[in-house]
Amino acid sequence: MVIVRRDPASPHCPPLDRERELIHVDCASHTYADGSVGIHNMCFSVLRNEIVVLCGPNGSGKSTLIEHLNGLLTPSQGEIWVGGRSITKGERTDLWKEVGVVFQRSDDQLFAPTVLDDVMFGPLNLGLTRPEAHAAAISALEAVGAADLVSKIPGYLSGGQKRLVSIAGVLAMRPKIIVLDEPTSDLDPLHSDRIEKVIRTFKEEYGISVVIATHDLDLAARIADRVCLVKNGAVFAEGTPEEIFYNPELIEEAGLMLPHTVRIYLEFCATGGIEPTDHPVRLEELIVSLQRRSCDSSR
Ligand SMILES: Nc1ncnc2c1ncn2[C@@H]1O[C@H](COP(=O)(O)OP(=O)(O)OP(=O)(O)O)[C@@H](O)[C@H]1O
Ligand SMILES: [Mg+2]
Repeated sequence: MVIVRRDPASPHCPPLDRERELIHVDCASHTYADGSVGIHNMCFSVLRNEIVVLCGPNGSGKSTLIEHLNGLLTPSQGEIWVGGRSITKGERTDLWKEVGVVFQRSDDQLFAPTVLDDVMFGPLNLGLTRPEAHAAAISALEAVGAADLVSKIPGYLSGGQKRLVSIAGVLAMRPKIIVLDEPTSDLDPLHSDRIEKVIRTFKEEYGISVVIATHDLDLAARIADRVCLVKNGAVFAEGTPEEIFYNPELIEEAGLMLPHTVRIYLEFCATGGIEPTDHPVRLEELIVSLQRRSCDSSR
């Protein structure tokens, strides 16, 4: 996979991988009623069975893009395709079954009198019987580590608990694509880790594709198959974590900081006068590279 800088003058962006593409955002733009530009000439794809991470600074357009993926917002220009059908032309009315979104603000998501009712709502709407919906809800709450919240009133939950329940609500519906906007931003480290593991199981066990918007490049380094850098309402570069994170100019252009693993490795090489030829991104890769480099330099 190569880093792409699409020509901003081109009216269309070609599919990234025609065979595997589930979502195709073709040069979409959205301007809010007050004139603020949410996204502009946004080109973005979600492929089958991948975790794609949108990284960009505050106000770069990540949430606006996400709100287009389940039809909550429609683009003023450009087109969005889900499962080969255009949602912009109104060819889809059942998008919520296919694309589950966990919003940045959990208060936008939770509305039922109890946590159980909230998480059962989606499965019931999919046509499951009450016992089936109950089982799906309990299993989703257990998966995210929130089974103890089942009888609580959503409005009284803490920020992190609301986030866990929102994720369970989407998971219980088993959509083809799950989109999570800043999924770990208000979670403690243990729940963060749990959610990270749950996200991996979405892909590995259920074959669900996942889109995550985050500023947390450490999370992106650990979990992403593909990283998209967002700035001024558009993806301006994308590639594997290795391609993106070993390109410090791109990270600087995105207004972000390199993941810790990459910083440690580059610092280690710079101090030892070693050429950084490996490109470790995940912790286990970093350890292997450091061990190898230490052996090389002691010879
Ligand atoms: N409802 C709205 N009305 C007017 N402007 C909006 C609205 N929602 C977002 N915007 C503007 O659109 C731009 C993109 O915002 P968006 O929320 O998509 O960014 P983001 O990348 O998700 O940022 P963050 O990392 O802070 O969540 C910003 O300039 C923002 O002020
Ligand atoms: Mg946002």
